[in-house]
Amino acid sequence: MGNLMEVIKGRRSIRNYEDKMVPDDVLNQVLEAVQWAPSWANTQCWEIIIVKDAATKQKLQETMAKGNPATKAIVNAPIILAVCGKLKSSGYYKEQVTTKFGDWFMFDLGLATQSLCLAAHDLGLGTVIVGLYDHDQAGKILGVPEGYELVALIPLGYPAKVSSAPKRRNLGEFVHQDAF
Ligand SMILES: Cc1cc2nc3c(=O)[nH]c(=O)nc-3n(C[C@H](O)[C@H](O)[C@H](O)COP(=O)(O)O)c2cc1C
Repeated sequence: MGNLMEVIKGRRSIRNYEDKMVPDDVLNQVLEAVQWAPSWANTQCWEIIIVKDAATKQKLQETMAKGNPATKAIVNAPIILAVCGKLKSSGYYKEQVTTKFGDWFMFDLGLATQSLCLAAHDLGLGTVIVGLYDHDQAGKILGVPEGYELVALIPLGYPAKVSSAPKRRNLGEFVHQDAF
């Protein structure tokens, strides 16, 4: 395991992939990072679909919003991980919402996704979180059942090209002392 800050800072969104399959044992390590993500009351509302089938990837690509920079990656990456969440689980107690934010599934899926992307990077793999597409159409293609939502598509594979890091806000621009 590499230095955590190096892994956090070194991870980039990868949109170009080598034509090389990810071995199952490596893929399993990436999935274990999801397994160990924190979640609301340990509800673990995530479901992951592993997509390797070329025809399915092609259909998913057709759901991309026009101009999405990750469009090619959807067919070029050897694997697409489709991150889905169970609704009315995270943030609920006895089927009742517990906070003003309602369903926390997006939050929990975000944590799981970040763990996934960091673990992938640590293993020498690239990922890009893809959120700009027709979720309903893609969900139908993948057979996502009622009560669940497809949220992110994550191409996974060996990076062919790594872009430079987009600029980040300085700490002083978003860190507040004692009050906002
Ligand atoms: C929720 C979410 C949705 C995103 N959707 C897309 C997308 O649809 N297409 C794309 O090319 N990148 C997408 N990205 C990647 C971001 O553009 C990228 O993380 C950001 O520019 C920072 O670059 P870095 O990941 O290399 O640090 C998304 C990222 C997040 C967190």
